[in-house]
Amino acid sequence: MAKPDPFRNRAAACEAHDDIPRSPGDGETIGEVILRRYSRRAVMRGTLGVTAVAALFGPAALAAGDAKAETATDRFDFAEIEAGIDTTHHVAPGYRADVLLRWGDALFPGMPDFNPDAHSAADQSKRFGHNNDYIAYFPINGSNTHGLLCVNHEYTNEELMFPSVKKRQDKSGFEEMTPELVDIEMAAHGVSIVEIKRDGETWRVRRDGTFNRRISPNTPMTADGPAAGDARLKTSADATGMKILGTLNNCAGGQTPWGTYLAAEENFHGYFWTNVSLPGGARPKGLGGDQAKSYARYGIPGLWQAWGKFIARFNVDNEPNEPNRFGWIVEIDPFDPGFVPVKHTALGRFCHEGAETVVNKDGHVVIYCGDDGRGEYIYRFVSNGRYDPDDKAANKTLLSKGTLSVARFDANGSVHWLPLEHGRGGLTEEAGFKSQADVVIDARLAADLLGATRMDRPEDMQPNQVNGRVYVMLTNNTSRKPDQVDAANPRADNAFGHIIEMTPPNGDHAAETFSWDILVKCGDPGIGDVGALWSPDVTKDGWFTSPDNAAVDKDGRLWVATDQGDNWPRTGRADGLFALETEGPCRGAPKLFFRVPVGAELCGPCFTPDGDTLFLAVQHPGADGAEALIGFGRPSTFSDPVTRWPDFKDGMPPRPSVMVITKIGGGKIA
Ligand code: FEO
Ligand code: CA
Ligand code: CA
Ligand code: CA
Repeated sequence: MAKPDPFRNRAAACEAHDDIPRSPGDGETIGEVILRRYSRRAVMRGTLGVTAVAALFGPAALAAGDAKAETATDRFDFAEIEAGIDTTHHVAPGYRADVLLRWGDALFPGMPDFNPDAHSAADQSKRFGHNNDYIAYFPINGSNTHGLLCVNHEYTNEELMFPSVKKRQDKSGFEEMTPELVDIEMAAHGVSIVEIKRDGETWRVRRDGTFNRRISPNTPMTADGPAAGDARLKTSADATGMKILGTLNNCAGGQTPWGTYLAAEENFHGYFWTNVSLPGGARPKGLGGDQAKSYARYGIPGLWQAWGKFIARFNVDNEPNEPNRFGWIVEIDPFDPGFVPVKHTALGRFCHEGAETVVNKDGHVVIYCGDDGRGEYIYRFVSNGRYDPDDKAANKTLLSKGTLSVARFDANGSVHWLPLEHGRGGLTEEAGFKSQADVVIDARLAADLLGATRMDRPEDMQPNQVNGRVYVMLTNNTSRKPDQVDAANPRADNAFGHIIEMTPPNGDHAAETFSWDILVKCGDPGIGDVGALWSPDVTKDGWFTSPDNAAVDKDGRLWVATDQGDNWPRTGRADGLFALETEGPCRGAPKLFFRVPVGAELCGPCFTPDGDTLFLAVQHPGADGAEALIGFGRPSTFSDPVTRWPDFKDGMPPRPSVMVITKIGGGKIA
């Protein structure tokens, strides 16, 4: 979700940390680490002769040299596509890219075709939601051609959903929103669970799938862990603090080895409202009473949506504790509709980007979570219990107890995991934490006290089960000042992001100390001021910006999906999926495999276990960058969108969609 954070400097008082190194490590400085890693590489200055302005206007302007001719041999067996921007998607030659699920597609039998001029909340609640993000494939009976697809629906673009809405609402006071439209928006959020099957060359949705299900911000859920039942989770509708309605802003997520789905609740603060001040005015001070410090740290109420204008529980004037019931990781069992989704409070409350899992060699389950805000932290959860491949019921309790830690990156190339435990490290009642419930509810405040490293907007954190490392997508942070840079976040005004590679010692993901390195610094290698760092084998089409979601294929190769938000005019290229070598002579050289239509970002890269099918989520087509597109140059709306992808039918707005990629004639992707 690329909406601006109006409170982005709220944590500025917390200085960036370059603490005295405590890890013995190998004695190298970060400069030595970088030199060792990159001695054969270069920050490429001007070698491609491209300016961002010229690049805006298409591939011809980009073709200043045939970089491909100099490319060393990599392990990705596809011909790179050309970077650029137009109204549709593109995939590497030799591959099919089919639309599998579009916003509004029916998920149950006997339903009529989607009609965007006449939809209702009841209708939307049985259809695929808006703005698809994370995707997970769950094989049925171990099949690579028949399974359940779980998909997050992160948020909604009112101006592209509703014929009656003429302007972007969060920037124009929500005047055009009505209770009916809010209800439809809510029904378009959450998670879709859909049975799909490959039929010859083509994947199809099975509307009669018995597990087909929609989960929304109104679906009954429960909680476990330290904050479950805590006074701060109780509301006028729920005296138990355990009966929570719904999940929202589900961005990335995770898939557990025991076959459940983890939906991360990201920008939950944006859904809360107050009547004390209206959008456009100064943020109300002192809201939240004795929780005012917490509200301020989390940016509550965010006023990004109009829900609280019409629905009492999303108005903090009515329900000051409702925001404490969001910002968690939610476990859903796609194969058991009777299993009430659980918010695992032991994993902390923050703007959870995702929750990728690895079973450590000692059997403890480790989950990596980024907090997507400027200057926010990265976290790790280690379960107390051990994974048992034969006991799914027991595994479903593993995320209720464990140790949550936050990362401090040191300049000597070590990263320390600092536990968030009540009574330890200053997390005491005097400091505002009466119990472990307070520590997890206010995980950001607790992490501040521990001296964690403020990162450049942490998105997906992707463990690679083949090489044993973990990849951290840091998407950008334009509010980092020159005096706030540190070894792990080395660029001020970091508009284009970077990727950090973490290495657990001896493959132990529960270790207190890892080592780390910068894999790439993103941006145009042809512009020296950008300060990009790629392999010299990077091509004119292969470089990218703003890494967001990532996946690792069965051969341990990294795939990165990007979300550059409003930066399209600066880069002259669409977001897409980039295959990125992390090993061998091509380490740090990406290749462009797929790109999205104008205004979209790419989410959810997800492979079937055999690697033959790749699912991609094209989110918010037509939403970003419309003004900068030549021949358009105005805001994109329902009646006048910059693209009508993927239907290209008069009257049909652009529709966020899941695409399925297969190799023509069959076989492994790339
Ligand atoms: Fe929803 Fe952090 O992207
Ligand atoms: Ca995103
Ligand atoms: Ca994301
Ligand atoms: Ca991922």
